[in-house]
Amino acid sequence: MAALISTRVGIIVGSLRTESISRRIAHALAERAPGSMEFAWIEIGDLPLYSEDFDDDPPAQWTRFRDEVRSCDGLLFVTPEYNRSIPGALKNATDIGSRPDEDANVFDGKPAAIVSVSPYANGGMAANHALRQNFVYINLRTMAQPEAYIGMAEDVVDEEGRAGSDESDRLLTEFMQAFAEWIALVGQGESGERPIVGMLHFLSPEPRRLARFWSELMRLPIADGATDDLVMLDFDHVVTPTTWIFGRATDAARGRAPLGLDIGVQDADTWADVATRAEALGAERVGEHEDGGIQWIEMNDPDGNRFRVFAPRPEAT
Ligand SMILES: Cc1cc2nc3c(=O)[nH]c(=O)nc-3n(C[C@H](O)[C@H](O)[C@H](O)COP(=O)(O)O)c2cc1C
Repeated sequence: MAALISTRVGIIVGSLRTESISRRIAHALAERAPGSMEFAWIEIGDLPLYSEDFDDDPPAQWTRFRDEVRSCDGLLFVTPEYNRSIPGALKNATDIGSRPDEDANVFDGKPAAIVSVSPYANGGMAANHALRQNFVYINLRTMAQPEAYIGMAEDVVDEEGRAGSDESDRLLTEFMQAFAEWIALVGQGESGERPIVGMLHFLSPEPRRLARFWSELMRLPIADGATDDLVMLDFDHVVTPTTWIFGRATDAARGRAPLGLDIGVQDADTWADVATRAEALGAERVGEHEDGGIQWIEMNDPDGNRFRVFAPRPEAT
């Protein structure tokens, strides 16, 4: 299925040499990325060394580089380690993008991910962290986890881009999946505008009682300052944004479609326990369903609001 929203990710490789293992790893990452990502390869080998002398009349290569970075929603850096730091060409590129003044910094606020690469066991950790330090000042929002220090890199991906093991394949894929989620979480979108995060408002004759039910079921604390008329749940420590899904209502007998609240449980061993816990908290079990391998339990909360508890989706084969 075609992705509805695509994310443009710039790939910057720290090595300039033709047979670069870092570039090979970068290709392997791009090939394993979610379909929502499209890639722009941003080259740094032709950039004249940065000097403030050229700020007023910058070389065309600097302008090209700055424009390419600006056009991206996120940046993936794949670099070797040179003498326990990053290659000079890469440092030059970050200096060029951050200037001539703070307002012109093309990196400002963009989500970034770092992969360090080495043919040795150390995985280029020193380069990875030197780059992170650089990113703090130029305000790239660097993904913290998962980290990627790719050691013995020639064994991880061969010259044809094949992963050396299922484990390597999985780790490269998971890294790109996590980066896609990071961009969705902290990115600003093409227009530079942040999405408005909505809220779900329950109207209830007894807000405190209903809030207690959802607080305990979702394991979200009740925020300070609750009154008899208004209670809020505390989402401060929840980093995953809620997905809003619009599906076709088939319950025509109701006359109008109800608002359906779905809980997707990630853990296959515990999803049925969530329904049992909901019953213990005062919910009513309406039925159990299965369609196309997807299982769910239909329930009413204590006010009669319909919600469904979904089992994890079966692995695609
Ligand atoms: C100037 C220079 C310094 C290097 N310093 C390190 C180092 O500090 N740590 C390390 O793991 N490898 C170091 N190496 C070896 C590189 O990891 C190795 O050459 C690697 O293949 C370069 O990445 P590439 O294949 O993407 O070009 C160094 C290589 C060069 C040319």
